[in-house]
Amino acid sequence: MSYETLLVEQRGAVTLIQLNRPQALNALSSTVMKELIDAFAKFEADDSQGAAVLTGAGEKAFAAGADIGEMADKPATEFFAQAFFDGWQKGIASVVRKPWIAAVNGFALGGGCELAMMADMIIASEKAKFGQPEIKLGVAPGMGGTQRLTRAIGKAKAMDLCLTGRMMDAVEAEKSGLVARILPAEGFVDAVVAIATEIAGMPRLAALLNKEMVNVAFETTLEQGLLYERRTWGILAATEDKAEGMKAFVEKRPAVWKGK
Ligand code: HXC
Repeated sequence: MSYETLLVEQRGAVTLIQLNRPQALNALSSTVMKELIDAFAKFEADDSQGAAVLTGAGEKAFAAGADIGEMADKPATEFFAQAFFDGWQKGIASVVRKPWIAAVNGFALGGGCELAMMADMIIASEKAKFGQPEIKLGVAPGMGGTQRLTRAIGKAKAMDLCLTGRMMDAVEAEKSGLVARILPAEGFVDAVVAIATEIAGMPRLAALLNKEMVNVAFETTLEQGLLYERRTWGILAATEDKAEGMKAFVEKRPAVWKGK
């Protein structure tokens, strides 16, 4: 399927999605949101696909934020009436069960940083820059920036970024816990696709449930989370892939996964 604002391709078991408005630094318009919801739904429904990578086309940006041109003259009531930003959470963050990686190749600002934080992990190129500059536009993050950023890097740094609107480079982002790894800019997307391929090659149910279990840590108490972990572990213990994985280890051979 072809999109106006995205490039989507399958590289083996990995779906590579590129935000493709480089002339606007991949600003996140409502069309981008609708198309991304569709692209993620197709990725989710396709059994041949085990992981996805989201990145930005062009040299400069992952995404420089929500599309300011689209928001500038919109009356306040319309944001609410149209549930203008709801799709990011309800169509992407809450519904994608398979693992996906944000490959941040340049600016990830405002909604761009917030979209990256919806991913299961962020891998940054050494040229990446993160920030929540909304305060400079008279607003605040509205797609999770005040919440996910604070959980990821703590109050001190989240306040610093939200109140000053300053940018943080890849090294600071990794030290702060926002970014899982930093990779060289050269060959960056291919290197992230290689990591996603490794994840896509894992036993499928274990991948879905590892993701779900880590995410539960953000929603509950330690005691409830540990209970959830033990119960969910019980589901994995009943899979054919668990039997195969442990048998293969004992027999010193590679496992052959069935995804069930
Ligand atoms: C629309 C954008 C854009 C954006 C950049 N562009 N960011 N268009 N929305 N968020 C456009 C510019 O207008 C310009 O178009 C082209 O992209 C290139 O940008 P330049 O500014 O010329 O590039 P540069 O000088 O290199 O500066 C890069 C930059 C700057 C520092 C990233 O573009 C910038 O500050 N952008 C805005 C960042 C921001 O405030 N993001 C938060 C948005 S609010 P033309 O046509 O002039 O060439 C947000 C809210 C989310 O995300 C929450 C909502 C609930």
